[in-house]
Amino acid sequence: MSMGFFLMKLQTQLFFSILLVLSMVPINSAITSDGEALLSFKTAIGGSDGIFLHWRQEDPDPCNWKGVTCDSHTKRVIYLSLAYHKLIGSISAEIGKLNHLKRLALNGNSLYGTVPPELGNCTELQYLYLQGNYLSGSIPWEFGSLLELETLDISSNTLSGFIPTSLDKLTKLKSFNVSMNFLTGPIPSVGVLIKFTETSFIGNHELCGEQIDVVCKDEVWLPSVDSQPSLGNKGYRKNSTRFLISAVATLCALLFVALMCYWGCFLYKKFGKGDIRGPAMDLSGGASIVMFHGDLPYSSKDILRKLETLNDENIIGTGGFGTVYGLAMDDGNVFALKRIMKTNEGLERFFDQELEILGSIKHRYLVNLRGYCNSPSSKLLIYDYLPGGSLDEVLHERSEQLDWNARLNIIMGAAKGLAYLHHDCSPRIIHRDIKSSNILLDGNLEARVSDFGLAKLLEDEESHITTIVAGTFGYLAPEYMQSGRATEKTDVYSFGVLVLEVLSGKRPTDSSFIEKGLNIVGWLNFLVLEDRQREIIDSHCEGVQIESLDALLSVAIQCVSSAAEERPTMHRVVQLLESEVMAPCPSDFYDSNSD
Ligand SMILES: Nc1ncnc2c1ncn2[C@@H]1O[C@H](COP(=O)(O)OP(=O)(O)O)[C@@H](O)[C@H]1O
Ligand SMILES: *[C@@H]1O[C@H](CO)[C@@H](O)[C@H](O)[C@H]1NC(C)=O
Ligand SMILES: *[C@@H]1O[C@H](CO)[C@@H](O)[C@H](O)[C@H]1NC(C)=O
Ligand SMILES: [Mg+2]
Repeated sequence: MSMGFFLMKLQTQLFFSILLVLSMVPINSAITSDGEALLSFKTAIGGSDGIFLHWRQEDPDPCNWKGVTCDSHTKRVIYLSLAYHKLIGSISAEIGKLNHLKRLALNGNSLYGTVPPELGNCTELQYLYLQGNYLSGSIPWEFGSLLELETLDISSNTLSGFIPTSLDKLTKLKSFNVSMNFLTGPIPSVGVLIKFTETSFIGNHELCGEQIDVVCKDEVWLPSVDSQPSLGNKGYRKNSTRFLISAVATLCALLFVALMCYWGCFLYKKFGKGDIRGPAMDLSGGASIVMFHGDLPYSSKDILRKLETLNDENIIGTGGFGTVYGLAMDDGNVFALKRIMKTNEGLERFFDQELEILGSIKHRYLVNLRGYCNSPSSKLLIYDYLPGGSLDEVLHERSEQLDWNARLNIIMGAAKGLAYLHHDCSPRIIHRDIKSSNILLDGNLEARVSDFGLAKLLEDEESHITTIVAGTFGYLAPEYMQSGRATEKTDVYSFGVLVLEVLSGKRPTDSSFIEKGLNIVGWLNFLVLEDRQREIIDSHCEGVQIESLDALLSVAIQCVSSAAEERPTMHRVVQLLESEVMAPCPSDFYDSNSD
């Protein structure tokens, strides 16, 4: 009796617990397919600010996850908003499974790798924001299927290749931005793309088309390259052949251009030179010399006479702002003369005022501006001549000259020069164009910062915006690329990139980074994730001290933080360099290696 009762109780218990288990199993494991896709997306991201903390496999659906919004009836994901969450990693192809997605915002992160063509499956997308990352490869042909798309912003990445003609079908497109990439070839001039103007295409130096008023040279850009790839291929295959074709086309184009240049130079040397030779300066009609501080011991007349004798043989460099000549005076002193083509008349007064300020700034680690001269066609700025050339040249052409101590010393000098501009000048000066070609070296390999304040002077003239950005691309802080607003912190970022360049011996947008879909900062972030950041050091650099290297890397990492407020001030950078990097705690290792 009691035995039977006990058995029955056991049975009911068993029954209920089975029921319980059964009812729990589906809840536990059956996260929706959107949820699974999002978890795969999360897996491909190596780092973030913690936004994924509560994205859990156990949840029935992803609708309460941070950054995710679902449709209230269907529970399908319609918005994914992960802009500015410090995501480091690639975009998983699984994202293509979110095929009810209406809005995808991944802008302002450090995403690298290619844009997955599977995004073309999200045919309900209306807003697609991918700007401000390090995405590479080409714009997927499959974007042509996003017929609902109203906004497509993929500016400020490192995308290359052609703009696919398939985009012409996106009839609802109202806003389109592919600025600040490495896109090439003709902008399709069919369908909806006709209506976009220059501002959608800024900073891609090899695009052509009506929209930007650049004539396409058809024989260079094989028109067949961009036609629809054969269907039925795997996405990967399609991609790589397209990449191959565009690479070959680019190579051909480069070869062609090189050949033309060579030919042009040849002709010029042979026939042209005699005719063109003559004073490079047009000084007729009222050139006036203005001197700062009177520290040039020559009269205006002496200088003008010298200027008239300058010609192409005196050129020591050309850059974004103009041509630099070597100006040797009779007493043996040498100056560097920078010639900037005439800016707007309206800017004239402003220009003189600014130069007056720049000329008043003297510091051991800054290149001294001695004076300037107005000629009818150009501005001539007279600087002290630095015999060591630019850091860019030394680092990338004669790097054997730079051992560890020399590199540290250059970084220290550049930091002090920049800190002076930021903290000790009145008014404070934002450099805006920190890069290795603007760090000049004297005969003892001491660094001096040059061209401070010039970028601001010249930015109003449109043609210059692009040239500055072109030469400076890899050094620009993400928020500067987005807003165009320079601050002290955007300089600090550029300084951080400079440090990485000095450490690695590689240009910030070296092709080895671009191939991996990164730039130097993306590469650093990748190495940091794997705790391999020491590998960034140039293998040719002699005498590396590990303690200093670690300390310097930690400074650089702070400087290139994508969040401006996390970057230290230059003042702090100098402090850190002095206390941690130049004099790391003495240890056996350090003692045995110091000389
Ligand atoms: N004061 C100087 N002394 C020696 N060389 C200079 C000086 N200023 C500029 N140069 C050289 O001229 C080149 C062009 O300078 P610049 O017009 O400022 O362009 P960028 O800074 O973009 O290279 C520099 O890379 C450098 O080699
Ligand atoms: C998504 O896109 C890829 C290639 O773009 C395609 O092969 C695949 O079948 C698509 N998947 C779905 C579910 O539509
Ligand atoms: C596109 O992006 C660039 C760089 O972020 C910006 O300067 C430009 O104004 C944008 N153009 C449009 C049309 O929004
Ligand atoms: Mg310069």
